[in-house]
Amino acid sequence: MNVKRLLSARIEAALKDCGVEAPALVKTASRPEYGHYQADGVMAAAKTVQANPRQLAAEVINRLNADDMAQAVEVAGPGFLNIRLRDQFLAGKLNLEAPLIGKADRPQTVVVDYSCPNLAKEMHVGHLRSTIIGDAVARILEALGHQVIRQNHVGDWGTQFGMLLAHFDDGGADSDTLSDLEAYYRAAKVRFDTEPDFQAASRAMVVALQAGEAGARARWRRFIQISLDHCQTLYERLDASLGPHDVMAESAYNDALPGVIEALDRQGLLTESDGARCVFLPEFRRKDGSITPLIAQKSDGAFLYATTDLAAIRHRAEALGADRALYFTDSRQAFHFKQVFAVARQAGFAGAALSLEHMPFGAMLGKDGRPFKTREGGVIKLTALLDEAEARAARLVREKNPQLDADEQAQVARAVGIGAVKYADLSKNRTSDYLFDWEQMLAFEGNTAPYLLYAYARIQSLFRRGDIDPETLGGKARPGADAERDLAFVLARLQEVVEQVAEDGYPHSLCAYLYDLATKFTRFYEQCPILTAEGAERANRLRFAQQTARTLHAGLGLLGINTVPRM
Ligand code: ARG
Repeated sequence: MNVKRLLSARIEAALKDCGVEAPALVKTASRPEYGHYQADGVMAAAKTVQANPRQLAAEVINRLNADDMAQAVEVAGPGFLNIRLRDQFLAGKLNLEAPLIGKADRPQTVVVDYSCPNLAKEMHVGHLRSTIIGDAVARILEALGHQVIRQNHVGDWGTQFGMLLAHFDDGGADSDTLSDLEAYYRAAKVRFDTEPDFQAASRAMVVALQAGEAGARARWRRFIQISLDHCQTLYERLDASLGPHDVMAESAYNDALPGVIEALDRQGLLTESDGARCVFLPEFRRKDGSITPLIAQKSDGAFLYATTDLAAIRHRAEALGADRALYFTDSRQAFHFKQVFAVARQAGFAGAALSLEHMPFGAMLGKDGRPFKTREGGVIKLTALLDEAEARAARLVREKNPQLDADEQAQVARAVGIGAVKYADLSKNRTSDYLFDWEQMLAFEGNTAPYLLYAYARIQSLFRRGDIDPETLGGKARPGADAERDLAFVLARLQEVVEQVAEDGYPHSLCAYLYDLATKFTRFYEQCPILTAEGAERANRLRFAQQTARTLHAGLGLLGINTVPRM
């Protein structure tokens, strides 16, 4: 159990002994000089039983059974508790032989819906954010022992494929022409807008495709496969843990769509409006009194994006047996998901056992604060973006460490470049818009990938200089000096932070944690020399270094970022 939860449980038991059932509300202390944690719950608890909060707090301390954990528990201010942990207890959390991350008590099945590009178009920066953030959360859930089912809900169906396939057909397009999907799409669109014959052919293609005509289907499959292959190349470059088997495309739900309509109809949820079949839920009433409906089927019989999402929820609930379904898309889809989730609940597609959670993120903006586009206003190609990241990182690496041989330089440049792009995204609060800034993300100071990767590499270099094989270091690191105690407390909190991210899907708290760790390590390193120390002291400090390296490596790994042994 993570330290915070353990402490909460103890305080809640003491509160109960005092006759109050209330949450302890434990958090890390806002002022570290007063302790490690504080518990604010006593004050609210006192209110419910009309007790004096400071008196109740004193009573809770009397009854608290936390001697094994806490060295001191004190009443402070209007009635909160300040808790300082014991060195002995901290040391117990710093065992080099124990796994860093413990498994969840109750493992869940969690669907993580992320990346999900539209295969008709070039994958854009919005999908980059979804891929990076969703992937980190998927890895974190997995590390905690949850069963994660990745679902890459790619857009592979819809009328826009008509013109693309028509162009594909008579243009004789192959994988190479499609590598610039953006240009391909534009060319098809121009023809669609200017050539009446082509327009007719495009429409005929849609009809053939929907009717399941073999030739049209084959062409469509080929197109989709090429587009998917491009995505896969990008996933590999990005070290995203997504593979072909995670693709569950929109078209996979086609056969289930009539069943969705039937089920909605059976529940009496369908209303016809201008020939379209809609669901009107009172909770989506606008200011003028009218209701924004969810359109399930258009008057021409076509199904919509929302209909597919309803089918997907059914699948996730019934076939996949999910306890949670998480959706990583930009915040402009917030209303879509709110509505789809509400209708899915009403229709009984998602029972109370399934938690549906949209995890929105903000837009990616250029340094000028405007949407991130090329100078010409086009989509930024992700491949080009990653090329630039590696090129910039390569320059940095050469400056910083010219001795590295060419192979290693390339390897480090890749880790730093790709790591920087990912980390910059992950380290910002995901719901805010995010400014893409090369200088910031590649800086060696501050909360950046280079800073953390360097902190890790520095520890490895320390081991090399001391001729120490860190794998042979065993046992527990015991805090003695203040800088060790501060470092120990950060190290002991990994589990708590990781569990938090698994719950709320905000990886920036793990980034802030790793940054804090690297900073505390630097202070420790300045105040507690390692290689020049002797005997037991040296061994103990080496353990701190190794536990820090392990934690940085694991923490970055959970974010999908690879460390390098030197840089
Ligand atoms: N393909 C969509 C887009 O590009 C994102 C899909 C997100 N997932 C979902 N189940 N709707 O915006």
